[in-house]
Amino acid sequence: MKTTISVIKADIGSVAGHVVAHKALKDKCREVLSKAKEDGIIEDFYVTNCGDDVNLIMTHRRGEDDEEVHRTAWEAFKEATKVSKKMKLYGAGQDLLSDTFSGNVKGLGPGCAEMEFKERPSDPVVVFCCDKTEPGAFNLPLFRIFADPFNTAGLVIDPSLHKGYKFEVYDVIDHKRVMMSCPEEMYDLLALLGSISRYVIKKIYRKKDDEIAASVSTERLNLIAGKYIGKDDPVAIVRAQSGFPATGEILEAFAQPHLVGGWMRGSHNGPLMPVSEKDAVPTRFDGPPRVMALGFQISECKLIGPIDLFDDPIFERSRRLAANISEYMRRHGPFEPHRLPSDEMEYTTLPDVLKKLKDRFEDIED
Ligand code: 13P
Ligand code: 13P
Ligand code: MG
Ligand code: MG
Ligand code: MG
Repeated sequence: MKTTISVIKADIGSVAGHVVAHKALKDKCREVLSKAKEDGIIEDFYVTNCGDDVNLIMTHRRGEDDEEVHRTAWEAFKEATKVSKKMKLYGAGQDLLSDTFSGNVKGLGPGCAEMEFKERPSDPVVVFCCDKTEPGAFNLPLFRIFADPFNTAGLVIDPSLHKGYKFEVYDVIDHKRVMMSCPEEMYDLLALLGSISRYVIKKIYRKKDDEIAASVSTERLNLIAGKYIGKDDPVAIVRAQSGFPATGEILEAFAQPHLVGGWMRGSHNGPLMPVSEKDAVPTRFDGPPRVMALGFQISECKLIGPIDLFDDPIFERSRRLAANISEYMRRHGPFEPHRLPSDEMEYTTLPDVLKKLKDRFEDIED
């Protein structure tokens, strides 16, 4: 019998602007998920938040894209939004773009990462949850985890990883996907993955047997809504050990806080800061962008854990570096590359400014 992990997330309102989801919203989600567990729809769950996003981590026997599991998540978010509206929380129901559920949360606003597998004798997984950024934020660390031998020693010294991994990459603008194989196609793969707002890793498979290794939520809110209604704030699931990278190899890729799009008004580049659950409170300029890592053992479809993996003093240095990078980037104010290029900005006054100045622009005669 196979096990499925579904991580479904949404911003349904927060306290003091876009900072933190209120505990009452998580409690309401837990109530709905407890009922779904009693009804046999899901086997186990853990509810948390990263900043203003509520994350539902669920295990079940129903496979990916299951209507009942997705309906459960949708109902949890809908019920919690009622609480959020009553409390006049900020952005109540922000990420729920539809009034009606139509079989799957995809396209309705929430982000969703899922994977189905046959449990190994011992099955560790890491669930990553972000705030104030977009799905392409995972491109660099996932590439390093599954393709860079300077990050993952196992690619060189462990025969079970040595053949490499396959990357399924989505073009989120043209709605196309391509499967690429590493290490042979590494340079071509990087040519895509460097464009983090367009090409995003959806899934990663172990090459020797096509076993699923990682899954990412790739939903882009502004592309669904046609306008800015907040950043996507993605989640990812990564399997660890015994044929997959070790937990420490997975976390290692987040030690360097790389620059990602998001932060204030979804329109700025900033460092992705690895934090514990209690420190997922983005305050400075609504950030900088955050990532949390929760470690579980999956046992007979139950979640053992979590361990709050970035709650370790060794990551203090990464956080300090993220704080220093934030300081440096902030000094640029409205200038690129802190501010995103105009075609990627979620907010802009540029067309209006250009319209206003239209008659004042003169030809340069030389
Ligand atoms: P342990 O001896 O602590 O199990 O470590 C094994 C290992 O390979 C760590 O990456
Ligand atoms: P969220 O997507 O986290 O709500 O961020 C919105 C925003 O504009 C923060 O400045
Ligand atoms: Mg918000
Ligand atoms: Mg958010
Ligand atoms: Mg958001």
